[in-house]
Amino acid sequence: MAFFRIGVFQFAPAFGEVDKNLARVEKAVEASERADLVVLPELFATGYQFVSHAEVGKLAEPVPGGPTTQFLLRLAKERCCVVVGGLAEKDGEAVYNAAVSVGSNGVLALYRKIHLFAEETVWFRPGDRPLPVFEARGTRVGIMVCFDWRFPEAARTLTLRGTDILAHPANLVHPHCPDAMVTRSLENRVFSATANRTGAEERGGKEKISFTGRSQVVSPEGERLIAMDAEEENFRVVEIDPALARDKHVTPQNDILRDRRPEFYER
Ligand code: ACM
Repeated sequence: MAFFRIGVFQFAPAFGEVDKNLARVEKAVEASERADLVVLPELFATGYQFVSHAEVGKLAEPVPGGPTTQFLLRLAKERCCVVVGGLAEKDGEAVYNAAVSVGSNGVLALYRKIHLFAEETVWFRPGDRPLPVFEARGTRVGIMVCFDWRFPEAARTLTLRGTDILAHPANLVHPHCPDAMVTRSLENRVFSATANRTGAEERGGKEKISFTGRSQVVSPEGERLIAMDAEEENFRVVEIDPALARDKHVTPQNDILRDRRPEFYER
């Protein structure tokens, strides 16, 4: 299996300034070495702290017709890569906290976050589709969004569906996720790429939200191949061997998928 390059972009999107945020992504990706897969944060084009349904409705976009997906399609074509990024998706009257995956030939997957966090439950409908796995250059990429990390079932389901790399757009506010994602990688023997945002938002008289940064790429052995700090704004790329995620052995006798005992996991 060929080597594969994963890039993660950590930055502080400006709330509501979609054009500016898209331009920042473009500049960072263009200035960097090429990646096969680029992972961007959750809600990277809009920012996070919405204050009204009208605001969410105005900033949410249809997929693939909206400006953010169209921008990602152009970026994917120009850079010959696949991009996964989080966005507010509008489908008729419904608005979802979604993540889209696009390649040079179009949209590969659309995921609507199934575990909404805190006030997201006010603004978004819960996801209504399965956790998706798609193929990029022979490598299988699964998508989960931010708070999905608290539910080990999400990463395990993606693993059982054949994922080699967990693409994980995030807007994290709790400190435990980077360590938990090391465990998600270890317990599933998959790579994980968490693209978190940094900075803070304090809008409409609401409590300030500080985002925790520390974006990372973790190997199936639990090694951090990229580890950003809490504040840096950076696009970093690492080369991996996806074949490592296809070998589920942890000892010659133990294969962590084959050794599962689902008959004992029923309640
Ligand atoms: C989160 O799911 N944005 C914490």
